[in-house]
Amino acid sequence: MPSATSAASTTAKTIAAGISPSAITPGRRPQNPKPRSSRPAPERNRLSIAPAYGRAAFGVGPRHPLDARPPTCSHGGMEQAKAATSDLIDDDRLDDLEREFVGRVRGRVLEIGAGEGENFGALHLDVEWIGLEPDAERRAELAKRAREWGHQAAPLDAMAEAIPLPDRSVDAVVATYVLCSVADPSVALAEVRRVLVPGGRVVFVDHVAAPPRTAKRVVQRIATPFTARFCHGCHWDRDTARTLVEAGFVGDDVRPFRVRSMPFGPVPTLLFDGHAP
Ligand SMILES: C[S@@+](CC[C@H](N)C(=O)[O-])C[C@H]1O[C@@H](n2cnc3c(N)ncnc32)[C@H](O)[C@@H]1O
Repeated sequence: MPSATSAASTTAKTIAAGISPSAITPGRRPQNPKPRSSRPAPERNRLSIAPAYGRAAFGVGPRHPLDARPPTCSHGGMEQAKAATSDLIDDDRLDDLEREFVGRVRGRVLEIGAGEGENFGALHLDVEWIGLEPDAERRAELAKRAREWGHQAAPLDAMAEAIPLPDRSVDAVVATYVLCSVADPSVALAEVRRVLVPGGRVVFVDHVAAPPRTAKRVVQRIATPFTARFCHGCHWDRDTARTLVEAGFVGDDVRPFRVRSMPFGPVPTLLFDGHAP
């Protein structure tokens, strides 16, 4: 049962988003006025590869106490990991999964590399959102859209490698298509761990490196100096699954997919819902 405060906040956000409050019930997501799939394709920087990692690469731990949802990862082990690894999905399915994963976080949520606010429609209406976006133009649009969605805090002008927040000050961190772009993912993830409360939740979505010793991995390696230079710092060859494990995050629901894409073929993509012990 939602509290009076949360119901009022829901109504305010709904009105601000230009959606009839009667069209939704508290806790349900209004339609995003700017759907994620409207992003220009280059922003997503997807590439054709088959992922080598699997869910078995991650530990499985207790879920965050603020999590209102039951665990969605009911399967584990190497066999399922192999099955998940080979799953081929389309862009619409990926959008749905992104919304589902992003919609799981609760409490005080830091979104790093928040872009122009593409995730507002997916975030639960009652989160206390803190955005971080180093690009001035994007941050201006982000600030505007944040206000429309009823988020009061102005986005932080900062890099994920130096988050201007105190230790243990947020309940969850979200980043979609950001770990491919940050200058140093290990430093950024150490910062994420620092600002998270113990047991704090993380949701990451990104395109990732192809398996080692594959032709596509070679192509990624060759292409990355160019994409890093000309596509907003985007790296096509990042082994994000490994980096997350090395940073100490525990996966609770880790789903590697290949996402249909033209003209280069499926793009290996990782959805990671986990926590910092
Ligand atoms: C591909 S866009 C993704 C935007 C948005 N999260 C989305 O899902 O559409 C990558 C974003 O990461 C931001 N970014 C790049 N380097 C960053 C860094 N070191 N720290 C934080 N954000 C960064 C960029 O400015 C850009 O907004």
